Amino acid sequence: LIEAVGAREILDSRGNPTVEVEVLLDDGIVQRAAVPSGASTGAFEAYELRDGDKSRYGGKGVLKAVEAIIDELGPAIEGVEASEQRIVDEILIEVDGTENKKRVGANAILGVSLAVAKAAADSADLPLFRYLGGPNAHVLPVPLFNVINGGEHADNGIDMQEFFLAPVGAETYSEALRWGVETYHVLRAELKAAGYATGLGDEGGFAPDLPSNREGLDFLVKAIEKAGFTPGTDIALGLDVAATEFFKDGVYRLDNKDWDAAALTEYYVGLVNDFPIVTIEDALAEDDWDNWKHLTDALGSKVQLVGDDLFVTNPQRLADGIKRGVANSLLVKVNQIGTLTETFDAVSLAQRSGYTAMLSHRSGETEDTTIADLVVATNSGQIKAGAPARSERVAKYNQLLRIEEELGDAAVFAGRSAFPRSQA
Ligand code: PGA
Ligand code: ZN
Repeated sequence: LIEAVGAREILDSRGNPTVEVEVLLDDGIVQRAAVPSGASTGAFEAYELRDGDKSRYGGKGVLKAVEAIIDELGPAIEGVEASEQRIVDEILIEVDGTENKKRVGANAILGVSLAVAKAAADSADLPLFRYLGGPNAHVLPVPLFNVINGGEHADNGIDMQEFFLAPVGAETYSEALRWGVETYHVLRAELKAAGYATGLGDEGGFAPDLPSNREGLDFLVKAIEKAGFTPGTDIALGLDVAATEFFKDGVYRLDNKDWDAAALTEYYVGLVNDFPIVTIEDALAEDDWDNWKHLTDALGSKVQLVGDDLFVTNPQRLADGIKRGVANSLLVKVNQIGTLTETFDAVSLAQRSGYTAMLSHRSGETEDTTIADLVVATNSGQIKAGAPARSERVAKYNQLLRIEEELGDAAVFAGRSAFPRSQA
């Protein structure tokens, strides 16, 4: 039984306040969870409550969320069985009482939801991935390393937010990790030799001031080859365009040019022809549904089209997208929706509908590694947790090494099968 719930304000990887929650069970178990925070946040995400008191942390404090946990959310679930995650999450949603968790904040609710799950797993003496996923949890994901950072995550001129290395040809997760790291280090040397800065962006990737987005893909291909791998077969590429960020009044502003959605779609078709790309996220803006449909018709059989700001891990928005035949993959961010139960509902809806699911960190992260366990619990086969640099990113990749070891012979690496539509 849940005996007590505590909370505090801690810092995330950008030095902004965030929520940490501790849950105590009546058997003496204590577990904690911390909440991540985005920068290129979708308009339809659950609400992140910040104090707005400019005299502390520029208004970004989370003391109101902490207070809501201690005064309202905690007392509401005390005495409830910690293993009844769905009931716990329903209570949290009810206490808030608003559509998008605006009153107490999705950051408050998520912290409690995750900490309860961790405490219940510990109490059952199970690793979190096993507790959440049951006996069939066994798939180790392809790690998508965001090695070039642009958009809202870096102060350079690159419009696209994330350039991924996806080591799909490795035999195991740990081999994929090594291939990604080796290529990441070669990429640094290549950028440096070409006269670019090699400082890091928010997600640990390099943030060079490249002249075009295409140039970023060229650098990835060069680095893969120089590191001794075959582009496409060993290591494929991916993009998170985060197009909502450069969409205004019906126009996309990319590479210093104005594009309509049809022209941009043609541009993506060209990229997929020229590069071994297996996944493109948020290629169009979060509300551009009709053009998303055209894009899906044009490219959906060749490449994974991921909805992030489009779906915001929301089962209702995803159901709408499935009905319209829009995109073919769900990005999964626990703080976009605010409870573990709703996150699982979104993932299972995706999987039942022939959509893939990619687990994701946020650009503002902590040392919490819950998403590593979640990707194995759901057998989703794909995770993006940034570059293999900066401890808040590496923490997730390291947790997957522990899970791989724990699973032993039962572990299966998702590899290329994680991207069923790719012709790369
Ligand atoms: P965010 O970026 O965490 O800043 O929203 C991640 C993403 O767009 O996938
Ligand atoms: Zn995204």
